[in-house]
Amino acid sequence: MVAVGGLAVEEIAARFGTPLYVIDRDELVGRMRAYRAAFGPEVTVTYAAKALCVTGVLALAAAEGLSVDVASGGELATALRARVPGARLVFHGNNKSDEELAAGVAAGVGRFMVDSFDELDRLAAVGRERDEPVDVVLRVAPGVEAETHAAIATGHDDVKFGFTLSAGLAHEAAARALAEPGLALHGVHCHIGSQISSLGGFTAAAALLVGLLADLRDRHGVTLGELNLGGGLGISQTADQVEVDLRAYARAVTGAVAAACAARDLDLPHISVEPGRSLVGPAGLTLYRIGTVKRIPGVRTYLSVDGGMSDNPRPALYGARYEFAAAGPAGGGRAGGGRAGGAPAGGTRMVSVAGKHCESGDVLAHEVALPADLGPGDLLAVAATGAYNHAMASNYNRVPRPAMVLVAGGEARLLVRRETLDDVLALDVPLD
Ligand SMILES: Cc1ncc(COP(=O)(O)O)c(C=O)c1O
Repeated sequence: MVAVGGLAVEEIAARFGTPLYVIDRDELVGRMRAYRAAFGPEVTVTYAAKALCVTGVLALAAAEGLSVDVASGGELATALRARVPGARLVFHGNNKSDEELAAGVAAGVGRFMVDSFDELDRLAAVGRERDEPVDVVLRVAPGVEAETHAAIATGHDDVKFGFTLSAGLAHEAAARALAEPGLALHGVHCHIGSQISSLGGFTAAAALLVGLLADLRDRHGVTLGELNLGGGLGISQTADQVEVDLRAYARAVTGAVAAACAARDLDLPHISVEPGRSLVGPAGLTLYRIGTVKRIPGVRTYLSVDGGMSDNPRPALYGARYEFAAAGPAGGGRAGGGRAGGAPAGGTRMVSVAGKHCESGDVLAHEVALPADLGPGDLLAVAATGAYNHAMASNYNRVPRPAMVLVAGGEARLLVRRETLDDVLALDVPLD
């Protein structure tokens, strides 16, 4: 029996339907606590809401004492709905609109993570206008090549985010912000990428940003007190991917900051980290029902499920790999009698798991070993889908997005209700 939160997944699927996102509350809250414990009370842990931005999850993060990073007006609105105090919000984005900036100001956002000279000027104007400086931190591109997929690397020089350190843009932005009465500059930030499992990039970035803080002190006589080192810690999505120990990560990062500060005789800044994936990713799983099987003799077998790239675009976008497991026949199983509890009756075979969308690229996994007798009606569970699945979901092919449930202690409750076709059609304006 595949179970989560004290419930058999067959039971959850029968009650809420498929595809379905399932969040294990104990795993999620446990990870939030583990982060806080690994870094200790001196470091602020800020949940990067983009990984999974739903009201219930942000409320849990706030209740666990985390701050929250939002990266759009929509994420800001979700955080406010979850009653995250404005002061515990940081607002990211490389092209925040005037409306988003105004919404952030109205919400009393704790820190605007300024990403461009244009944004710097806009926020300075807001600060002068209201006669109270806007609290800002500069996002810096430190020039660190993170060991991850190019689409989720963000710390190198040629990137759309932030002020590129090697080009002198970070120093220039800091000089402008410090001279600007409409801004209160508190520190610097970097985020080098996502799904990173070697620590070298994080420590290199930390040292570079401490170097920047020391340069700014030497040039301007001002010691900025805040250093936000972003998120990016990788998780294990398949058996061959090893998850970095959280305490080793915390030690490496705080140690690198301390060493770089000692080398430049700089006071230790207040450190923040901004994890997303490593908080929510392993806490989520997705349940699908198999609908059709295509066997191409001598080539491959495709099991097609009732979701796909609309609920998890990551395999198609950048080759993300996941672990699949047979989770038993839900709701009575397939015609002809299903297996009980996912136990293989006739060994396993390598198959591809395809989605239902009109793209050959809509394949969730190319080569996974699954019970050979899986067929229509059987349930598949996919592990570690809590991050950047629901958050990146679409209505491609006008497929309604799945529901999401939170499970714990044998109870399940909705976090997001299933979209209906009426929801999907609601925004269309008929021509007559
Ligand atoms: C600025 C910023 N901080 C934090 C994160 C979270 O990264 P991760 O989910 O890899 O921890 C991201 C992700 O893209 C980001 O852009």
